[in-house]
Amino acid sequence: MMILFNDQIIPKDQVTISFEDRGYTFGDGVYEVFRLYRGIPFCREAHMHRLKRSLMETRIQLPYPMEKLEHYLDQLITTAPQQDGLLYLQISRGSAPRSHAFPPAAVPVVLAYCQPLPRPVQAMRSGISAITQPDLRWLRCDIKSLNLLPNVMAKQNALDHGADDAILVRNGTVTECTAANIMAIRNSIIYTHPANHLILHGITRNVVLKLAKEINREVREEAFSSKFLARADEVFITGTTTEITPVTTIDQKPVGNGRPGPITRQLQAAFEVEAGLE
Ligand code: PDD
Repeated sequence: MMILFNDQIIPKDQVTISFEDRGYTFGDGVYEVFRLYRGIPFCREAHMHRLKRSLMETRIQLPYPMEKLEHYLDQLITTAPQQDGLLYLQISRGSAPRSHAFPPAAVPVVLAYCQPLPRPVQAMRSGISAITQPDLRWLRCDIKSLNLLPNVMAKQNALDHGADDAILVRNGTVTECTAANIMAIRNSIIYTHPANHLILHGITRNVVLKLAKEINREVREEAFSSKFLARADEVFITGTTTEITPVTTIDQKPVGNGRPGPITRQLQAAFEVEAGLE
């Protein structure tokens, strides 16, 4: 496996990250996950745009111009086999003796790699189970930060309870899942949490909202409660790795008739066309 490490593309075993890297000590950094379909990044510009925003909000400065990063990513992608996979990219604030304040001399550390990842065909076809859990995260979930401890804990808790994922609920309102956004359908209207500071502004979420409008489905970017969710006709999650995956069981109760619903199916089909996957 080849790794983009700052301005070099080198084999994995040659990467040396300092124990003082702030990504390691503080989770002080941001990341992106791009989907590669047959080796080509999907919605690349949208991911780069979100990355720039995460960097700006955290006041982390790339050690070189963004165009250079784009060029290195192009090179990295050519080292990976042309298959379905992902490109993981993270930028930490750099390495410095441990102290909370931004270290003036630290140079941000860039790391990226590609990895094969098949499309989640089985989950997309049959649906997944989820449990609701309190959303214990901070109030800037719109920043794609390396701090994922609440997400990790919620995911493991779901698995420990025999479910596939956790649906996060803050003050009675459904926000999103551990690594995906969530949408609920009632009376043919699609509801999803507004893109504010309480959720990640998912790229797949945006694609799905666009597709929903194209197939003349009404969409409401409105917060909804866990009670509303429990009475939804259809529920699905959206994400770079999950695409559009139906949720067929929530807290051990079936969603609708317990099978992926017709609007979810329609959106899945539209997504395949959009991503050139037919
Ligand atoms: N996660 N919400 C959260 C909390 C996420 O971590 C993600 C993505 C999403 C979906 O966003 P997008 O459609 O842009 O992938 C929503 C990535 C895949 C991850 O952490 O692995």
